[in-house]
Amino acid sequence: MTLVSCSQPEAAPTGVVAEKAMVVSAREEASRIGLEVLRKGGNAFDAMVATEIALASAYPFAGNLGGGGFMVYRTADGEAGSLDYREKAPLAAHKDMYLDSLGNPVPDLSRKGATAVGVPGTIAGIFEVHRRFGSLPMSELLAPTIELCERGVRVTEKQAERLASYFEVMAEVNGDSILFANDCQPGDTLRYAALARTLQRISDNGRDEFYKGETARTLVGFLQERGGYITMEDMARYQAVWRDPVVFQYKDLKVISMAPPSSGGVTMQQILRMMEPYDLASMGQHTSRSIQLFTEAARRAYADRNYYLGDPDFVDIPMEELLNAEYLKARMKTFSFDSATPSDQVSEGKLMLRESEETTHYSIVDQWGNAVSATTTLNGAYGSKLYCTPLGFFLNNEMDDFSAKPGVPNMFGLIGAEANSIAPEKRMLSSMTPTIVERDGKLWMVVGTPGGSTIITAVSQTILNVYEFGQSMQQAVSAPRFHHQWLPDLIVFEPEGFSDALKDSLRNLGYHINENRTPIIGKVDAIRVLPDGRLEGGADPRGDDTAVGF
Ligand code: GLY
Repeated sequence: MTLVSCSQPEAAPTGVVAEKAMVVSAREEASRIGLEVLRKGGNAFDAMVATEIALASAYPFAGNLGGGGFMVYRTADGEAGSLDYREKAPLAAHKDMYLDSLGNPVPDLSRKGATAVGVPGTIAGIFEVHRRFGSLPMSELLAPTIELCERGVRVTEKQAERLASYFEVMAEVNGDSILFANDCQPGDTLRYAALARTLQRISDNGRDEFYKGETARTLVGFLQERGGYITMEDMARYQAVWRDPVVFQYKDLKVISMAPPSSGGVTMQQILRMMEPYDLASMGQHTSRSIQLFTEAARRAYADRNYYLGDPDFVDIPMEELLNAEYLKARMKTFSFDSATPSDQVSEGKLMLRESEETTHYSIVDQWGNAVSATTTLNGAYGSKLYCTPLGFFLNNEMDDFSAKPGVPNMFGLIGAEANSIAPEKRMLSSMTPTIVERDGKLWMVVGTPGGSTIITAVSQTILNVYEFGQSMQQAVSAPRFHHQWLPDLIVFEPEGFSDALKDSLRNLGYHINENRTPIIGKVDAIRVLPDGRLEGGADPRGDDTAVGF
């Protein structure tokens, strides 16, 4: 084992290249709205506000007013920080709120409809970003989305497929009266008149319109009529929080990522630091050895994640110990290339992730070199599926990211941890990993993805694909991905790109391979700063994701 600090030479770009500024998001409409803000002189933070809101109409699958997220930034002069606009449990929440009279979890309560909804953070998030860093008036940042809502958004093939697959559950939760109740075909146009009116009121009246005004009253009334817990007091008390990001060195990269209540930064730091002593580049991308090494580091990191991490305002997280170099070295002592380490030997099993795979990420670099990496979510696809017709947006089901019954197996035979138990006003643990990477002290990459628990491994692999395996940004984003999260003790491979021979060789070493499920792992949207200062976008072909720039 040798410590290797040299990386591959920078690959020539294969994605969209821009001279100065770029936005990459899940929909072309949202990327263009963000870019237009930059073109008229706004900065990356203005573009963040505009893109975040545009996704609520262009990508209602995960873009939102009724959810929350995390944003990591790095200013042109190198200052880094992060904003937590994660949802919170309402004041009426309690540890056993999703258990029946026998003490068993009732998953529908935390996943579908009004009972699943956490206090939304997105509007607080954009206003806080704007208050601190914005340069254009908020009304100018919201106007393009109000126009888009009125003009309508074209339904893509992928969107039509998604809407069709959630049609029944949306009807079950909402009846047949919502905007999405009709069969949507590719090429149709969806107009969002109610969302346009809500955004116009927010534009006219400011942040308090959403948390204290007519919008709050409508939302709270709507939720309470349907058995939800959120009150006007919950809305009024919501605050986005600036947090110190997780910052660490991987060889000659400096990685800046999200701290708890997201597990993203801590878990990625553990994975990469456990891998760091090995010469990954010489093992080759997607070889048995490199997959083994990544898997064993991820197995150990997720075991810690699931047991120790939660909302730092409620739980003492042993950060120093978890990130200590000696500790991480000791964690890998049981690893050998000769055979898999079974997960039940890594630690006493404590928790299986119960996060959905639906979220969205966007990356922005402006013409001055400011960078924003933001991941936002409703949790499930279309969140709780509950669509607030009078206001024009879906509500999250983020309460399901808590562990409903710590210490006891849930309906999947999986076990929850105390650190992520439910409490009033607590934030539920997330895996969102908005990340910015510096190289030689300069901005090098802005990266993130949706994907629930697979977010952390997808972001880590994207960084490694460029740094260790010499890929361009677009190649690294498009490359097939795999995932391991301790429990279940399975390596999950995307359908394409991994041969049967490779899987057989891993099976022979004792690894369990997913056979029945061949999902998409993440939809990464990223930007790389090229050696000559131009920008290369990596927009994930797994979705309708689009990079635009100038
Ligand atoms: N709801 C997905 C996450 O926060 O990780």
